[in-house]
Amino acid sequence: MPTKAANLLTLREMLAAARRVGCAVGSFAPRYTPVIAPVLRAGQRTDSPLIVQISQNEFGWYQVSADEFAAAFFDELERQAITVPVTLHLDHTRDFGVIQQAIAAGFTSVMIDASDRPLDENIAITRQVVEYAHAHGVSVEAELGRIGKASDENIETDDDTELFTDPREARRFVDETGVDALAVSIGTVHGVYKVKQPRIDFDRLRAIRAETPVPLVLHGGSGVPPDAIQRAIHLPGGGVTKINIATDLENALLAALGREQRMLNPECKALPPEQLGPALDAVEQTVTEKIVHFLHSHGYAKEFAR
Ligand code: 13P
Repeated sequence: MPTKAANLLTLREMLAAARRVGCAVGSFAPRYTPVIAPVLRAGQRTDSPLIVQISQNEFGWYQVSADEFAAAFFDELERQAITVPVTLHLDHTRDFGVIQQAIAAGFTSVMIDASDRPLDENIAITRQVVEYAHAHGVSVEAELGRIGKASDENIETDDDTELFTDPREARRFVDETGVDALAVSIGTVHGVYKVKQPRIDFDRLRAIRAETPVPLVLHGGSGVPPDAIQRAIHLPGGGVTKINIATDLENALLAALGREQRMLNPECKALPPEQLGPALDAVEQTVTEKIVHFLHSHGYAKEFAR
């Protein structure tokens, strides 16, 4: 792992700066190592801070390791001479071992997701990760409530609110775990919205915000209308500060390649440059659109200086 560059921030540093200047930061999931390059390029060209993330499931789905992903990220930072603030974040992860591997590889932030466990267990597991990560200078995001998938049968019911984050529990969770950021379930889900459209519960977001001091994270950013995102960011009293976006990037890549199905990372790396190049450009355009029309984080890079 290279020595820490001045523009490589922990999630805590990144989100504290975002709150100070009043914007949110996109957490983009390239999924394939060649896709890290256009994500970083979009941030540099728009003068925007950004977060690059990959999850435990994605390591398995795409056959890429924490070491390989981190190495590709650090190579790209150097190759493109990236100067905008960046964070390397491990998204949804259940296993402590994977968290340890990511921290050893140079990730500056990790997410422990024990949200399927009862509250007390979620607190105990999260607290253990916080102790370990903080001892290594790394930030922690955790989840309370259940953020489903658009493809999930049980999230496509009228009872979604059962899965939503409870504001009173949020206060206890943050107090007892010491997390740096909290992922909340307030009406968005992961993946493409096919049946239901996202309906953000702004009253709940306001109540969670009032109960918790830490930055809040909105997952499932793909397919959410820009006005709903803007309202979630700029809610009076403060809204969400990190927004995760994955599916829209992969869809841009696959559409440009004329593919229906996702690939494995080795297949993506083996694509001929004349095919891969335009597809990476399509991802850069999508990330740029998110930054400029959805997050409005462009032009803020300098204000994030430590
Ligand atoms: P989308 O795939 O819906 O953008 O969700 C991304 C996400 O929240 C990953 O944690």
